[in-house]
Amino acid sequence: MKDQFQRNIDYLRVSVTDRCNLRCKYCMPNGVCPVTHEEVLRYDEVLRLVRLFARLGITHVRVTGGEPLVRKDVVELVAGLKQTEGIRTVSMTTNGTLLPKFGEELQKAGLDSVNISLDTTDEDLAAAITGQSGVVALVEESVALMQRLNIPVKLNAVLLKETEASMANVARFAERGVPVRFIELMPIGSGAGMAGLSSAEALLALRRAYPDLHPAKEHLGFGPARYFESARLKAPIGLIDAVSHRFCASCNRVRLTSTGVLKPCLCFDEGRALAPLLRGGADDEALLFAMRACIYKKPLQHCFDAPEGVTEHKLMSQIGG
Ligand code: 5AD
Ligand code: SF4
Repeated sequence: MKDQFQRNIDYLRVSVTDRCNLRCKYCMPNGVCPVTHEEVLRYDEVLRLVRLFARLGITHVRVTGGEPLVRKDVVELVAGLKQTEGIRTVSMTTNGTLLPKFGEELQKAGLDSVNISLDTTDEDLAAAITGQSGVVALVEESVALMQRLNIPVKLNAVLLKETEASMANVARFAERGVPVRFIELMPIGSGAGMAGLSSAEALLALRRAYPDLHPAKEHLGFGPARYFESARLKAPIGLIDAVSHRFCASCNRVRLTSTGVLKPCLCFDEGRALAPLLRGGADDEALLFAMRACIYKKPLQHCFDAPEGVTEHKLMSQIGG
């Protein structure tokens, strides 16, 4: 459906848990998870909502967390989403550490693509950022498995001051055909106040490794990344600069938190709590009415460049990235 600014909203990010097996410094460094199991939507509740979202024009669903693969039986949810009428693609954003365990089942469930988060290829630095050792090796294994299973895979790296020196090594995944996207650190949750790098700084660092890096002719996917190519790269490198280049005018997404809050924008603590309706016996029409009203009112733009205007104070793990 169209929102009040005529943006076509066709993409839903569904967070299935606030929990995670890692403790990324900018996301959930203390591992706090104030949400109880009862508050988290059951899969039948998620599927009912997604059936209704599809009626409003959502065609792409991304399963996120926390870490979606720590939730029991998430593969079944993926299969259910794939079978939902109107849903054309189902993808997942994961830290990759549990993919070696679930990759084959996810393929059987029909998962269309995976984004894996990896901020650095330096195992010690990765351990300092995520709180767990061996993460880089696990992501390497996951990427190889996805390629073997023919599930398209991309890497996402958050741009931090401390990872600048290893950025080019992360970018090297693109030499093997894996698109790599560098994401500006957003002032959300623990990310607020941390030292990030701008996309301009990132581009300078990347051009030192790939001097011929130039804007790509074709756009990849339906997200906000600006893509670049080089003769030495088999896949493009993307920059997602939500902070320095606002791309809200073409934003196509809304989010559903694990507890069933429909969130139209990452920046603001505004949304429609759908769980009370779902659990209070609301019929489909009442749910559709609430969803439509919330999507319609999606704010014009975020205000990450003036963080005092950010009213969202939850952690990224509670929102779903
Ligand atoms: N800014 C940018 N990206 C973030 N992520 C988590 N917190 C932040 C933040 N403050 C990223 C993770 C993962 C995705 C779901 O969101 O690294 O790639
Ligand atoms: Fe977990 Fe992802 Fe948050 Fe890291 S960024 S703590 S992997 S949810």
